[in-house]
Amino acid sequence: MEIKNLNPKKFVSAKEEEISAIVGTDLAINALSGGVDSSTVTMLGHNALGERLKTYFIDTGLMREGEAEQVVSLFADLGIKVEVVDAQRQFFGALSGLTDPEEKREAITQTFYRDVFGKLVQDIGAKFLLHGTILTDVDETVAGIKRQHNILTQLGIDPEREFGYKIIEPLVQLRKDGVREVAKALGLPASQYNRPPFPGPALAARVIGEVTPERVAIVRKATVIAEAELIDSGAFQCMAILHEDRVTGMRDGKRDYGLQIELRSWESKDARIATPTRLSYDVLERLSERITTEVPGVVSVTYNITKKPPSTMEVV
Ligand code: XMP
Repeated sequence: MEIKNLNPKKFVSAKEEEISAIVGTDLAINALSGGVDSSTVTMLGHNALGERLKTYFIDTGLMREGEAEQVVSLFADLGIKVEVVDAQRQFFGALSGLTDPEEKREAITQTFYRDVFGKLVQDIGAKFLLHGTILTDVDETVAGIKRQHNILTQLGIDPEREFGYKIIEPLVQLRKDGVREVAKALGLPASQYNRPPFPGPALAARVIGEVTPERVAIVRKATVIAEAELIDSGAFQCMAILHEDRVTGMRDGKRDYGLQIELRSWESKDARIATPTRLSYDVLERLSERITTEVPGVVSVTYNITKKPPSTMEVV
């Protein structure tokens, strides 16, 4: 049930009390990606549990350029230690050969919750996982639109029985705009509470077809350019997507059967509905020029002009 008329300060103290009462004298873990939801949960959890919360950055191999270093250093400045876990081999192994979007999402869920967190809680003897699920994630999964990577109980999965730990979801009654208010009340810097959303499946949500280290590297390069050029536009979210199909292009007077990158930039309040940003042709031309020259093998760049619905924001 969504919280209406949110009072962020009251919400923070109520959730901190709740987390502390549930965890008691046990240990909890959480994964921090650096996005607004997991950053907010990290702050709430550390205020409530102090040293009894262990925070990890899971390096799935699917994250953006420099993301691990940025997150570790930002939270070090806030006095919170974040340990990086290298799980690249596990994620690429699980994704190998998969092309169906929901199968890819399922593989990511299982790798996160069974393989990576299941082992971490065992290694340190934790009983709880603090989780940044928000209401929009639940809605879309329950409606059968897209299985959001972090939905378990709402799909009838008992995390304690299947993975060996209980889940606490302090943000599950909020949407993105509510989480931003709470993040601000917790003293997170504006760069953090205003940060554009980034999905749990990370760049795997932006690769159509098989997710391999090589294909992720291509979409990662395009993402650097898309974010650099669009960061000041004030959009809710912007992204580069790698298509599966190749198209005929030409380079140096020769045929080049190359890759296609699709760009999306969204205006939205809470990700339930969204419209494409009305980007200027100057911006679009610069994006196309940079991506076709700086990202190896790309011969086509397109901009998506479809609203959500019927589109969704991520392509997978
Ligand atoms: P869609 O593609 O469902 O995206 O229209 C709506 C918003 O949710 C983000 N998104 C996710 N967030 N786990 C997340 O934590 C996921 O599995 C996931 N899939 C999409 C997306 O980036 C957008 O902000």
